[in-house]
Amino acid sequence: MQVERIEEMRLTADDEVQINALILAAFDDSFGDRSFHQQRHHVRLVVREANEIIGHMAICYRVIRLGTQLVTVAGLAEVATSPSRRGKGIAGAMLTAAITEVERTRAKFFILFGNRPIYAGRGFEVASNRVKYTDMTGANTAATSLSSDNELMVMAMGDEPWIGALPVDLLGSKF
Ligand SMILES: CC(C)(COP(=O)(O)OP(=O)(O)OC[C@H]1O[C@@H](n2cnc3c(N)ncnc32)[C@H](O)[C@@H]1OP(=O)(O)O)[C@@H](O)C(=O)NCCC(=O)NCCS
Repeated sequence: MQVERIEEMRLTADDEVQINALILAAFDDSFGDRSFHQQRHHVRLVVREANEIIGHMAICYRVIRLGTQLVTVAGLAEVATSPSRRGKGIAGAMLTAAITEVERTRAKFFILFGNRPIYAGRGFEVASNRVKYTDMTGANTAATSLSSDNELMVMAMGDEPWIGALPVDLLGSKF
């Protein structure tokens, strides 16, 4: 299975239309006509079948505050496989490619907000940090919010351990 890597600034209009259709089928209509939920990402990973995008993941590269320290992280978002193609390892193949992608960066941690078994199976661990972020639901900036909903999952990319007791400031929206 070939996982294609697309830089955000190289996304075509047609790819964005296809990604929008895929994530609308996987989630809800809060994506509007966008190929991203709240803000653009940096890299997309897609799987195509007969020119149709049937799998998608987005990776963003950010700095966040963990306790008092600024820490570079990568974030995983917009994970979706076409409903008729699920259970065939498409998300698994994209996740392998995503981890390889992040290993090539200086990110100390790979983080996501989600709770699917596939993440724990690949080494992401649930983290209980209180997370401060800017609520940008519907692509409108709203209030600053705090959450500790146990949807945060973290993979350490090096020797430094993640500390679940420290507050996290995302310095922007969730992804
Ligand atoms: C989640 C989703 C992307 C999985 O896509 P997929 O291509 O069917 O995934 P795979 O075929 O690689 O794996 C299928 C299942 O096998 C299991 N699996 C695969 N690799 C695994 C591993 N290494 N360890 C444990 N379980 C594993 C998981 O149960 C996994 O799916 P799940 O996490 O949804 O239960 C797909 O169900 C989807 O689009 N769901 C709707 C959108 C969504 O929930 N996105 C994630 C938001 S956090």
